[in-house]
Amino acid sequence: MTTPPTPAVHATGIGKVFPAASGEVTALTGVDLEVAAGEFVSLIGPSGCGKSTLLRLIADLDDATAGELTIFGKTARRARLDQDYGIAFQQAGLLPWRTVAANIALPLELHRWAKAKRDARVAELAELVGLSEFVGRYPDQLSGGMQQRVAIARSLAASPQLLLMDEPFGALDEMTRERLQTELARIAAETGAAVVFVTHSIPEAVFLSDRVVVMSPRPGRITDVIDTRPGRPRDEALRESPEYFARVTAVREALHGAPLQRVNER
Ligand SMILES: Nc1ncnc2c1ncn2[C@@H]1O[C@H](COP(=O)(O)OP(=O)(O)OP(=O)(O)O)[C@@H](O)[C@H]1O
Ligand SMILES: [Mg+2]
Repeated sequence: MTTPPTPAVHATGIGKVFPAASGEVTALTGVDLEVAAGEFVSLIGPSGCGKSTLLRLIADLDDATAGELTIFGKTARRARLDQDYGIAFQQAGLLPWRTVAANIALPLELHRWAKAKRDARVAELAELVGLSEFVGRYPDQLSGGMQQRVAIARSLAASPQLLLMDEPFGALDEMTRERLQTELARIAAETGAAVVFVTHSIPEAVFLSDRVVVMSPRPGRITDVIDTRPGRPRDEALRESPEYFARVTAVREALHGAPLQRVNER
């Protein structure tokens, strides 16, 4: 056998303290997290427990005040400069002066794809997120959910080996949300991309994830990690299986701090 693959994310002892007028805010403390290459990990927990902060540290949008963090064995900064990951955050973060197509094409331009290849890829991604008819529009001509879908398409454009997603489906209607969950599961499986996914939805976390990381606030930390890797494909039938319901219950109990009967001990 060859050496084991480098993990997508390796974090040890991560802490983040924000200075504030009323004293310091400890957004994160003692966070240890390893996300294997190709693994899908969701972060779930009450508002203010540090989910977005952790994702922002991984994306090198902010610096940790303690601990060590590597992305594919590199510093967070190096990984950002190398564009090793795609990002889709809560606020779509689109460039208002660019059309839908030009927003989706942005990572491909940065990766210096030739125009014809880029256009074909943009068409494919627009189709995937159901926006083929809107590629010529500008972000302010779209609904919030449509803007989010553009951001999702953009994050997937260069088929990155790591996707960082912060409540990307938050503004979508339930049917679109489930369809995009199924698509994301398929894309992650097909491309072998690792995903760190923040959500407030327990069913969404359980459907998509290999592991669900449960966090708790004041100070923000990891309180539980639940194995949710399904023994079957992530399709519509999974959503109605007893195995799925058992895992939803396990995550709910962990979130509510109830005595935990672990799925894998049943
Ligand atoms: N730039 C900042 N300056 C000061 N405090 C901050 C900053 N960003 C986050 N915080 C604080 O850090 C804590 C964690 O915030 P964070 O946004 O990571 O929470 P979250 O888990 O993503 O919450 P939500 O589910 O509401 O998105 C909160 O107490 C927040 O007030
Ligand atoms: Mg957040």
